[in-house]
Amino acid sequence: MQRKTQETLAAQIHAFLAGGTTALADSVMPNPISEYTDPGRLGEEKATLFRRLPILVGHSSSCAQPKDFLAQELGDVPVLIVRQTDGTLKAFLNVCRHRGSRVTFEECGNRGSFTCPYHAWTYRSDGSLANITNADDFGDVDRAAMGLTELPVEERHGLIWIALTPGTSIDVEAHLGPVFDAEMAAYGIEEFAVERSFTTRAKANWKIIIDGFLETYHLAFLHRTTIGPHIRSNLAPFRPLGSNGCMTAVRTSFDRIRDEDVEAADIEPHLVHAYSVFPNTIIVWSGRHFEAWLVHPDGTDPGSSIVKVMVLGRRSEVEDPANDYWEKNWVVVTDTVLTEDMKVGQSIQQGFASGAQTHVTFGKNEPGVQHFHRMVQRAVAGR
Ligand code: FES
Repeated sequence: MQRKTQETLAAQIHAFLAGGTTALADSVMPNPISEYTDPGRLGEEKATLFRRLPILVGHSSSCAQPKDFLAQELGDVPVLIVRQTDGTLKAFLNVCRHRGSRVTFEECGNRGSFTCPYHAWTYRSDGSLANITNADDFGDVDRAAMGLTELPVEERHGLIWIALTPGTSIDVEAHLGPVFDAEMAAYGIEEFAVERSFTTRAKANWKIIIDGFLETYHLAFLHRTTIGPHIRSNLAPFRPLGSNGCMTAVRTSFDRIRDEDVEAADIEPHLVHAYSVFPNTIIVWSGRHFEAWLVHPDGTDPGSSIVKVMVLGRRSEVEDPANDYWEKNWVVVTDTVLTEDMKVGQSIQQGFASGAQTHVTFGKNEPGVQHFHRMVQRAVAGR
């Protein structure tokens, strides 16, 4: 992050502390509950968001060597990503062209070909069809047209991004926009490695999970005994970055530099940046590690989602067996997001089904949540 941006954030934080306030939207925003419960709405979101925009899949180091592969379900789309011998990546639908089985059920590995477990058709790592079992029984097959269906894929900032519609294109730089793209470049995420990843299912709409990262209003209450004492509640600058955004949470340790000149103070150790990568990802920069939270709708149920968290650390720290930072960090992740936030998130979805109300209300003090939902609404409406 540029020093100038840090200083602007610090000046805002000083003003918020002095005024006992936070970043504020212009007005209160009612939001229809149907946006969390309507299967038709979920179908529109899949078509306009998940199938059109760049979707973050993972870190490049997870698929670094020639013939390394990753196989993932992104929502209800099975994808296969393979490192080619020339160092580039190719991505495919993990769907056999014979009768549609996955060509691999393994999540990752290294192999030069993929043999479908059903009838053993075989595909090369570049997706081309290498062999048809009992080929004579299939007549004159155009093998060149029967390779795995390719998807657009791009590596940028050490991360793998994919577009889930064949025949489309992908432009991560344009999606991030110049400010966000420059901030991501400055972090040097290429030099990080995956410390661990974890996937779970939540009985909550995918947007409820995202909402929880975009305001600090709840910290003093839901996280009263976990992170609440360490991060200020209801005090956070928010910057819209196109359809993306960044909420900056403030550690209570900021008090130590409160009397220092903004231009001289070492600000960054006292901040936590939560970037919303539209539509379905939150990247948290803690000052020492990243967490990427990747959230997908789970099938056609608007009340269910698949949540993956990927923790990234500097290689030297991740590979140090004596470093106990990671276990301590994982306890925080588990206690807060995976326990406290998930419990409330799932209760929210249940509450929606009860018919208690037709709308929820986003306060002026929740500008990040408001911005995210406005961007979803705009995209679904095709604006
Ligand atoms: Fe893959 Fe038959 S479905 S070989």
